[in-house]
Amino acid sequence: MMTSFLSRLSLVIAAMVFPVSLVLAAASYNIELEAANNDIRDKESLQRGAVHFANYCMACHSAQYMRYNRVARDLGWTDEEVVEKLAFGQRLPVDHMMSFMEDGVSESKFGIEAPDLSLMARLKGNDYIYTFLRGYYLENEGVWEPGNWNNKVLEGTSMPNVLESFQKHSSPEEYEQVTRDLVNFLDYIAEPNKVERWDLGWKVILFLLVLLLLTYLLKREYWRDVKH
Ligand code: HEC
Repeated sequence: MMTSFLSRLSLVIAAMVFPVSLVLAAASYNIELEAANNDIRDKESLQRGAVHFANYCMACHSAQYMRYNRVARDLGWTDEEVVEKLAFGQRLPVDHMMSFMEDGVSESKFGIEAPDLSLMARLKGNDYIYTFLRGYYLENEGVWEPGNWNNKVLEGTSMPNVLESFQKHSSPEEYEQVTRDLVNFLDYIAEPNKVERWDLGWKVILFLLVLLLLTYLLKREYWRDVKH
């Protein structure tokens, strides 16, 4: 009886721990990741990241859980501005941020569907995406040809080096800025109310601490005259 209970219990514990170990395994990469050091409170960086995202990523990728008007509200644009800046006036403010590529084209061109990027920052982490975007290198040094690119994070990736022009023509600081702004925007869309949650969290903890103090004082008051 006891042993069957124990074995069942260990099964339950194993079932609870297993997914965690899978996540931990998925999170370990064989190269060292660079720190993205992005800041989702920096609205200017988010605005730049959004425009880069529209210009350099949405040809292939969607952010299907975001709407243009939500981005406008959070980043300080009007509805007209957001569709102008991010969709060249071709979308409505209420539209989801869907890729400009037609279904199936990615698969036929790259052999794989370009993944939706709404939740990518939560799935892979900011540092991963930052290192991935900056991880393109020329296999034969000095030969700047599309087929000559590889990526140290995702070897043999089918995503082209879309930031090639920045990598080639900008200063290292500008290139760093562009990639950091992009990661910042991806971090933001993965959880648009993160800043609000952080700010509220402190207030809730402060409230609970005050409440703890009050309830403690109340308890002392109630028990003051009781002999125990
Ligand atoms: C020309 C099409 C194209 C463009 C433009 C493009 N991507 Fe991709 N992207 C892909 C494809 C295809 C994959 C799948 C790659 C693979 O699994 O090898 C991918 C995968 C990714 C991944 C997931 C990598 C992983 O580890 O699974 C991220 C993150 C990403 N892209 C970010 C971006 C960002 C940010 C931009 C804009 C700067 C961008 N992509 C522009 C085609 C594109």
